[in-house]
Amino acid sequence: MTSVIRVAVAGAAGRMGQTVCAAVEGADDMELTGRADPALGTTVADVVGDADVLVDFTQPDQALDNARAAAAAGVHVVIGTSGFDADALSELSGANVLFCPNFAIGAVLMMQFAAEASKHMARAEIIELHHDGKLDAPSGTAKRTAELMQGEPPIHSVRLPGLVAHQEVILGDVGQTLTIRHDSINRESFMPGVLLAIRKVGSLDRSPVVGLEHLL
Ligand SMILES: NC(=O)c1ccc[n+]([C@@H]2O[C@H](COP(=O)([O-])OP(=O)(O)OC[C@H]3O[C@@H](n4cnc5c(N)ncnc54)[C@H](O)[C@@H]3O)[C@@H](O)[C@H]2O)c1
Repeated sequence: MTSVIRVAVAGAAGRMGQTVCAAVEGADDMELTGRADPALGTTVADVVGDADVLVDFTQPDQALDNARAAAAAGVHVVIGTSGFDADALSELSGANVLFCPNFAIGAVLMMQFAAEASKHMARAEIIELHHDGKLDAPSGTAKRTAELMQGEPPIHSVRLPGLVAHQEVILGDVGQTLTIRHDSINRESFMPGVLLAIRKVGSLDRSPVVGLEHLL
């Protein structure tokens, strides 16, 4: 990989994709070389030839095929799309794959605190709240949080206009509750994590890797 990382974005016309394109354009060590999106008349196949890394923020039924196409072309893949079968990523070869259900550092910490707390308190439930344009439920973050916690915490999903991405983990025990809450109040909250993932995906010592916590 050259010193400037060439980055293509799949889902470039979407809410997250537009924010990622702007963040990549603002990073001194990166060059935005392609925007793939049916809304722009471009496909992943059109953009992988000029890229070192493909970032995917598309939709659940597209992410795996996009990752497969990029990896087959030797292009590393950073996936933010949620709601697809992440187990299938282990079939991909040719380049590294990094899937992060949540790129916000505060959300990663929330998951770690919730995992720790679940060892000490009797029960827990997860409430995840997102904007009403989100296609999948429960969220990838909520599913990942539940996987990391002891017991099998139920997940409740709320979809409303006005929300961005929020999650509460409520733990209960005799005479007390503990609430751990994270709020992404805008999409810029994800960008430091996305840029870190782009910088690190090429040097992972294994693939696929799931979770931003492995890069911190
Ligand atoms: N990991 C995280 O931290 C994080 C944060 C926010 C959102 N997300 C996830 O990111 C995904 C995108 O969210 P969004 O709000 O930007 O959605 P969005 O609907 O605004 O954008 C998705 C874009 O993908 C495009 N697209 C569809 N199929 C495509 C394909 N085959 N190739 C290229 N582009 C394609 C669509 O035309 C659209 O412009 C969702 O799965 C969401 O849950 C993840």
